[in-house]
Amino acid sequence: MFKHFNILICDDDEIICYLIKELLVEEGYKADIVYDGNEAISAIRQKNYDLLILDLNLKTMRGEEVLKFVKDYDKSVEVIILSAETELKLAVQCVKQGAFDFIQKQFYTEELLPTVNRALYQKSLLQKTEILEKELDKISPIEIIGKSEPMLKLLKLAEKAAQSDSNILIEGETGTGKELLAKFIHKNSTRKNNSYVTINCASLPDQLLESELFGYEKGAFTDAKTTKRGLVEISNRGTLFLDEIGELSLTIQPKLLRFLENGEYRRIGGINNLKSDVRIICATNRNLMEEAEKKNFRRDLLFRLNVITLNIPPLRERKEDINLLVDHFLNIKSKSKIKKTLSDEALKVLMDYSFPGNVRELEHIIERAVIFSDNNIIKAEEIVIPQNVGKQKFNRESNEIPEDLVTLEDIEKWYIQKVLYQNNLDRTKTAQQLGISIKTLYNKIKTYRLIGEN
Ligand SMILES: Nc1ncnc2c1ncn2[C@@H]1O[C@H](COP(=O)(O)OP(=O)(O)OP(=O)(O)O)[C@@H](O)[C@H]1O
Ligand SMILES: [Mg+2]
Repeated sequence: MFKHFNILICDDDEIICYLIKELLVEEGYKADIVYDGNEAISAIRQKNYDLLILDLNLKTMRGEEVLKFVKDYDKSVEVIILSAETELKLAVQCVKQGAFDFIQKQFYTEELLPTVNRALYQKSLLQKTEILEKELDKISPIEIIGKSEPMLKLLKLAEKAAQSDSNILIEGETGTGKELLAKFIHKNSTRKNNSYVTINCASLPDQLLESELFGYEKGAFTDAKTTKRGLVEISNRGTLFLDEIGELSLTIQPKLLRFLENGEYRRIGGINNLKSDVRIICATNRNLMEEAEKKNFRRDLLFRLNVITLNIPPLRERKEDINLLVDHFLNIKSKSKIKKTLSDEALKVLMDYSFPGNVRELEHIIERAVIFSDNNIIKAEEIVIPQNVGKQKFNRESNEIPEDLVTLEDIEKWYIQKVLYQNNLDRTKTAQQLGISIKTLYNKIKTYRLIGEN
């Protein structure tokens, strides 16, 4: 049924190995044999196996350790445990740790093939789901809306840049579509069928960020109960998107630089240099050249990252795109079949607005208007822009707290939003003014869903 699958048999009992292989080959499967755990590990590293039939009681290494390695290395390799009568408890434990099932050695002639067939059936279903997901991705391509001259120019550059394998730095104010552009580049690159992994450098403290990026070995620190692969490893042959790269601390910068120089890295607590082939796209709303001048960002790292720089212009500098974007968001936000439209006055309100939160802000204004407008034509009053939200709430001069805000949380939320808008959504300035770190501000924006952050 699933003859194209590769099976590996690992048991130190030669005779059992041959008997199992015979059973599998008779059934039409391809199978290889190894006699100990280390051999199994190197075989799995070298060849794509779909299933491992694994004896628990091996000579040089316990079967549980091999199982652990395999599940850590590639979860999609199914494992069937062979256990002796005395090892049943352990075998059940292995199933809890990710083995597909176990069979008792003395019954293998009856139980092996049905179990192998079930494991491979499950595997084939998972593969089908993965293929379908990829197909789905193809029919819903990333849509970047914009016909203004700067956007057309940018998209042309981005398509060319996608074909190269160079690292790319995307600059642009908040909400201009940096993350969207990064995805677009990945989808248009030769790496499109491999992983696209993203991490926000502003959202984690240093130590966590380092372990997310480079992974760690078991025992590297108290909580490191198992070995964990880092994102540079997971995105091998794919793209790694480092969002808010400007927030990367001076401690992590040299570590990233080392990786960019030769593709080599070490897991935390590891002694081996590992290699990974990753294309880095990063994004920032800071001016990294200025940050380099101020010694907040390493110049050598900047030059590794900005081999190609793409700059997304703010929405206020390409007002011709507003109409198209409004249409696009009306299409995707209208739940019913009847698409709502904007009255001329409503469109004028938008054309006169400066959009400090750029496209994201426009998206949320439209979403709100679609939900709350009473009929199919959205009126000017139904366009809610922060400057108009109960003038007193965002009054730039007055610090008076609106009466309807009661809890400390309400007031904190209101005040952060007020300072954010006073600073035209510049997070660095806002954090400075509020006396909190950019990471804390970032997390508060997320928790309170300020400036329409998803
Ligand atoms: N040109 C565009 N066409 C369609 N949708 C867009 C466009 N630009 C941005 N968007 C949408 O606007 C929202 C914000 O975009 P995105 O998250 O990519 O911005 P960003 O620059 O990464 O923002 P931030 O700096 O705040 O992280 C997303 O929902 C995105 O799909
Ligand atoms: Mg972003």
